[in-house]
This record gives sequence, C-alpha cells and structure tokens, in this order.
Amino acid sequence: MHPIPLVDVKAQYAPLIPELESRFREVLEDGQFIRGSNYYAFEEEAAAYLGVKRTIGVANGTDALVLVLDALEIGPGDEVICPAFTFYATAEAIARRGATPVFADIDPATLNIDPEDVAAKITERTRALMPVHLFGRPADMDGLLELGVPVIEDAAQAFGGPGIAQRGLISTFSFFPTKNLFCLGDGGLVATSDEELADRVRMLSFHGSRDKVDFDFVGYNSRLDELQAAMLRIFLTHLDEWTLGRREVAARYAELGLGDLVDLPQDEAGHVYHLFVSRSPERDAIVAALKEAGIGTATYYVTPLHLQPALRFLGYEPGSLPETERAAAENFSVPLWPGMPVEAQERVVDVVRTAVGAPARA
Ligand SMILES: Cc1ncc(COP(=O)(O)O)c(C=O)c1O
Repeated sequence: MHPIPLVDVKAQYAPLIPELESRFREVLEDGQFIRGSNYYAFEEEAAAYLGVKRTIGVANGTDALVLVLDALEIGPGDEVICPAFTFYATAEAIARRGATPVFADIDPATLNIDPEDVAAKITERTRALMPVHLFGRPADMDGLLELGVPVIEDAAQAFGGPGIAQRGLISTFSFFPTKNLFCLGDGGLVATSDEELADRVRMLSFHGSRDKVDFDFVGYNSRLDELQAAMLRIFLTHLDEWTLGRREVAARYAELGLGDLVDLPQDEAGHVYHLFVSRSPERDAIVAALKEAGIGTATYYVTPLHLQPALRFLGYEPGSLPETERAAAENFSVPLWPGMPVEAQERVVDVVRTAVGAPARA
C-alpha cells in the first residue's frame, strides 16, 4: 500500500511548473528583487480578491500580526483577547509587543473563539480582539463585532473564505507552504480598508520610512519577496478552483460515512478546509492506526497556548479553558488536498472504522 500524505502541495503546483518557471525568468531578467512590479501587482490583486481597499505584502504571517499590533500602538499595559487553541504565533505576536494575551475559551462546535467567553474577559485594558479563523472555518464575527472592540482577524489559515478580512478592522495572512494559499517559502500579508492604518503598516514594514531617507518610526524590515509575490500571483488565479476541490474532498468524507465514526468539521459558515480536523474521544487509537497504515495525520495544539512554558508567566492553570483542553485532547486531521483520489479517501475511512471498532463496510 502506498503511503497517503496529509497534504500534497506538490500535486497542486506540479501542473503550474512551466508557468512558474517562466515568471521566475521574468523576475531574473527584470532584476528587481525587493518591492518590484510583482510585489505591488500582487497586493492589488489580493486586495481585489479579498474585497478590501489595501493589502501590504510582508515577510510572514507572524510579522503581519506584530506589524498590525505595532501600527495600532498596542503594547505594554494593553490586553488583547485571543484563543489558546491556535498556532503559537497568535499569542506570541501579542507578547512580543509587550502586551498581554488574554485567552478566551472556544465553542466546541466550531473550535473557534467563543464570543460569550470573550465578553466575560473584556476589561478597561482590552485594546483588541484577535479571533483566528481556525483550520479555514470563519470565526463568529457577528458575535465578536457586537462587543464593540476593534477586531484583528488572524486569517493565516483562511485566505478567501466568505467575509474574511471584510469585517474586522485589519487582517493578517500567512503563505507558509501548507496554507490554502501558499508560496514557495515564507510570506505574509496584511489587509485592511483603513487607508491610514495601511500606510502605517507599510512604513513599519520598511524601517518606519516612506523613502528610506526619512525614518518616522522605529520599524522592521519585513517585506514579501518579489519572487514570492510573482509566484503568488499565479497561485491566486487558481485559488477558487482549489477551494472548490477542497470542499469536494470534505463532502466526500461525509458521504463515505466518516461522520458516523467521528465528529466532522461543520461547514455551514463557509469552510475553506485549510485542514480537515475532526474530533473523537478515541483520537489516540485513530491516530496510531492511521500512522500504522502509512496515512498522514496530525494533532493540533496538543499543549494549548495558555499552558505553554513561554507563557506560564500569564498564570493560567490546567482546567482554566475546559473546551480548549478537551479539543486539544480529541482533535486530529486526515489527508485533504484538492483532487485527492477517492480511493485514498476510502482507505482513510476504512482505517478509522477499524480503529473505532465499527463494523466493516458492506
Ligand atoms: C493561526 C496562525 N497565525 C499565525 C501564523 C504564523 O504564520 P507564519 O508561519 O507565516 O509566520 C500561522 C501559521 O503558521 C497560523 O496558523
């Protein structure tokens, strides 16, 4: 039996290699590797795709968060409410600015931050809410916006999902190679319709300067490389078709009966399936069986952020975010990429069926 990878990025870009090579050659001939024509063109194309006025290409999704927090002058003494069931960078960026991450619990049905718990954690020091559209599923923006605090969307995992980046004050993206929109290395983006804020992020990403002559702020050097922007312009034109492909594979898992064995992710909010993450109390047995069968699988945020050593100074104890901790113990992913063959999906479902002791397919 062939192994089945968790994601197959190569299968996604393989048909595009001739186009990528020719764009690469154009950049080589142009010789402008920082802030060249592709960098600006990608920013415009991404803004149009997302339905925002401005985007700024930056070095990665973590820098995008730090730049946004800096542009909003969020720092020591300020609190930002975010989930603990997310990649470490979400809270790391807040702490990097000297501000305090305040963790709210998640809604177990969606795995996204729970606006009710967010409301309970707002204080006079709260400067922003930072939801994550986890695994590609949009967070409950209605519930969060009602709370009247500026919202920074950590949209690293959800480029192009419905409404993403359109409702928060400002949003951030990552193009890490496994993301649903990816580049061939590190890359990130900030998106907003607030022009003043966009100008500030742009300057901060460029040493706090407009022209590298006068320096108005203490900034950063964090720009999306011209070569990555050139590749992203090609990938962006395929994103609709990739998202459709992801949704087809997700729907097929349900048709194959995976939902009778484990709790599947729900897609009524317009999931883009960056990852296909399910839940089961029998998670450890399922993961062991998938690995044994050569099938790619992963578990996410097994030590949630409130219990990470680097953030121990915040004073959270085990049990303080019960739904987060339960999701950390129960979640696992199965393979998904656009165009994943149906036979591979059948094998995945068969292995899970055996692992949970359900009868074999008729
Ligand atoms: C939710 C979330 N936020 C932030 C990041 C950071 O992005 P990057 O790896 O591009 O710095 C990631 C991904 O890696 C992420 O998944």
